[in-house]
Amino acid sequence: MTHNKQLIRGFSKRKKEERIDFLMEQFGWSEQIRNWLYTFESENSDFQRIIDELSENPVSNYHLPYCLAPNFLVDGQMRCFPLVTEESSVVAALSKTAVFWAERGGFHSTVISTGKKGQVHFTWTGKPDDLQSVFPEIRTRLLAATRTITANMQQRGGGITQIELLHRPEVLPNYFQLDVSFETLNAMGANFINTTLECLAEALPQIIADHLLLREAECNIIMAILSNYTPDCRVKVWVECATKELLGLDGLADFPERFAQAVQIASADVSRAVTHNKGIMNGIDALVIATGNDFRAIEAGAHAFAARSGQYRSLSSVSLANGLFHFEIEIPLAVGVIGGITQVHPLAAFSLKILEQPDARQLMTYLATAGLASNFAAVRALITQGIQQGHMKMHLSNILNQLQVPEAERTAIRKHFQGKTVSYSDVENFWKGNRHDATNT
Ligand code: MEV
Repeated sequence: MTHNKQLIRGFSKRKKEERIDFLMEQFGWSEQIRNWLYTFESENSDFQRIIDELSENPVSNYHLPYCLAPNFLVDGQMRCFPLVTEESSVVAALSKTAVFWAERGGFHSTVISTGKKGQVHFTWTGKPDDLQSVFPEIRTRLLAATRTITANMQQRGGGITQIELLHRPEVLPNYFQLDVSFETLNAMGANFINTTLECLAEALPQIIADHLLLREAECNIIMAILSNYTPDCRVKVWVECATKELLGLDGLADFPERFAQAVQIASADVSRAVTHNKGIMNGIDALVIATGNDFRAIEAGAHAFAARSGQYRSLSSVSLANGLFHFEIEIPLAVGVIGGITQVHPLAAFSLKILEQPDARQLMTYLATAGLASNFAAVRALITQGIQQGHMKMHLSNILNQLQVPEAERTAIRKHFQGKTVSYSDVENFWKGNRHDATNT
């Protein structure tokens, strides 16, 4: 294959067929590949158009399983969680953990706060005290400048809740921030926040220049953007039961102590903490994706929060005080149930229907529940039989698909490897050996 080094311009203006033509030419592929790519598209043209319009330059659809984990008792309400993940053991673990805790009172929650923030980053060459002293007036004019953008949100009880001026000379000479707090109600609010911040950034230099005391100094806007660090949009979810109920669980006499030790390690040791929190995000991301929310924003915010003390730590914690096993998670989760693709992607909207049309606060609770449940399941497995047993079924399925084993021959292979550790070569040898036996008889 020879690669043409010429740059491709105007690619996004090409039709889908033309983009596929490009692939065929570039890699010397046959028409078979084109037809194969089309097999992943929906026959429902309305749906396909919606999916194509979600992104740029699409040539096909990329599928992931859409799964269900029922039996989540959350604040006394039974819920079924829709999950999008390629890791089958996550869905199995969540389903099992949902039942386990439903039989022990379920999951409980408190939404601690729902605020979000963004900043206008700028430099100003005057005396910081001068700017600070007239900032109340500047704030009033800034709020007035954004009124047309914020009016609707304000009417519903949201909007800008605070604008503060921060002087940060340790970062850059003459560097300031407008640190702006928002309440965006049932929306994640990224568009609203960014539009408002860009409006503030546009208005700020003139508002400063209009002020007699400040007009000599120079104001330069660097950028205006929301922050995905959302510690003020935070939820706490917990489960609890009598510690003695867990003694002997999975054959482990001191299950509660061992569980607490495992969480303690994740709280103190960064190598373990990252993996521990990855196990939490297994559950959260699957539900975030199913509801059409931004999993990159959630991931970034969660990990920054895990490092808020200056050391990266576990997002969950355990206490065994007063004979009570109490396991909880506290995590920032800025999500929405309106806006973005939550109502545009048919399956995202369907997920919200399955969740019985939660508001953003309830969705935060369900997400933290999924995180705590997947964390409980992972740590439970790790301190008892390990995680590989649960992963083997998925691993075997992947190997069977990779080897393209015909459906009719799979049952025997699955039976042979039940409860065993599986490797690619073991499965290949067993399969080929079996075929050989069958042709010899
Ligand atoms: C695997 O996807 C997640 C785990 O590694 C999480 C953990 O170790 O706690 C099992």
